[in-house]
Amino acid sequence: MTRAPVTILGIESSCDETAAAVIQNGNLLANIIANQDVHRQYGGVVPELASREHQKNIVPVVDSALKTAGISNKDLSAVAFTQGPGLLGSLLVGSSFAKSFALALGIPILGVHHMQAHVHALFIEDGSGTPGPEFPFLCLTVSGGHTQIVRVNDHFNMQVLGETLDDAAGEAFDKAAKIMGLPYPGGPLIDKLAKEGKPIFKFPPPQIPGLDFSFSGLKTAFLYFVRDEQAKDQSFIDKNKADLCASIQSSIINILIAKLRKASAETGIRTLAVAGGVSANSGLRVAIEKERTDSGWNVFTPKLQYCTDNAAMVAMTGYLKYRTKQFDTQEATALARFGM
Ligand code: KG4
Ligand code: ZN
Repeated sequence: MTRAPVTILGIESSCDETAAAVIQNGNLLANIIANQDVHRQYGGVVPELASREHQKNIVPVVDSALKTAGISNKDLSAVAFTQGPGLLGSLLVGSSFAKSFALALGIPILGVHHMQAHVHALFIEDGSGTPGPEFPFLCLTVSGGHTQIVRVNDHFNMQVLGETLDDAAGEAFDKAAKIMGLPYPGGPLIDKLAKEGKPIFKFPPPQIPGLDFSFSGLKTAFLYFVRDEQAKDQSFIDKNKADLCASIQSSIINILIAKLRKASAETGIRTLAVAGGVSANSGLRVAIEKERTDSGWNVFTPKLQYCTDNAAMVAMTGYLKYRTKQFDTQEATALARFGM
């Protein structure tokens, strides 16, 4: 008798992406994302608008994921969904959908921690055959809401060694972009413009003890610097945009890499990874790769399409939970704050 494959539908709705993915026996079959352009004009995510967009998108996105995967409802083994952390209204749309869909099909649900899912993006198998890191490893999880150094002992045994005391790294990118008049989300734009510039402007690095981070001082230093230069020359930003982007990006990367080096030295762990939206940053990817030779690290980065929010990482986490029988009940609720 052949065993039925394990087929997981994953749903992500923690912020401003409505996403659904299907993973069968660990292999990704579909990964669909609907972005929400509605926030652009406001310079950041408007929570109420995000919830409404999720409500509009969730059914077509799930439908499209199942069709792309060639999977019918009755082939599904379980539904995984992002339980938190994130915007409560947004999480509620994904979790309510997942719970009712699973209930109607008589299959289990799997509540997923968003930051654990970002780490599991390193393990997504999509036919290109790159195995994930071996345990234990250190993962720098850098997104729009979080900046953490996590000791990953196992798929579900993760210990936060340090985190940001104020802004997240992604937030630092987005706020710096806003100061320069660039649209939201500014991270990818800074990345693009930085390629044409040089990091000629220097900002003092934060003096934060241990493995914690702080980015609000850098943001303020950047704001005052730009404001002062603009007062002298109104077109300062326009004339220096690429160098400003290269400078702020380089400052953020230097802060991140310095803490990773410290974490590696303190723990003796030399397998290092990055995950989360900011791990898509080309400068950060080059900087961590460079540590392979400079520090002798074994380095892992997720594929670009799995760095920013997506449902493939949620389905992957769901698959790993399914295999270890970590099912949730219909009582599982969306959690805006959710400890790792
Ligand atoms: O993980 P993510 O998609 O959503 C959250 O969980 O927050 O991360 C979004 C963050 C945003 O701040 C965005 O500007 C940043 O990731 N980001 C980048 C790049 N792509 C996305 N930051 C720098 N360079 C990039 N290429
Ligand atoms: Zn995220």
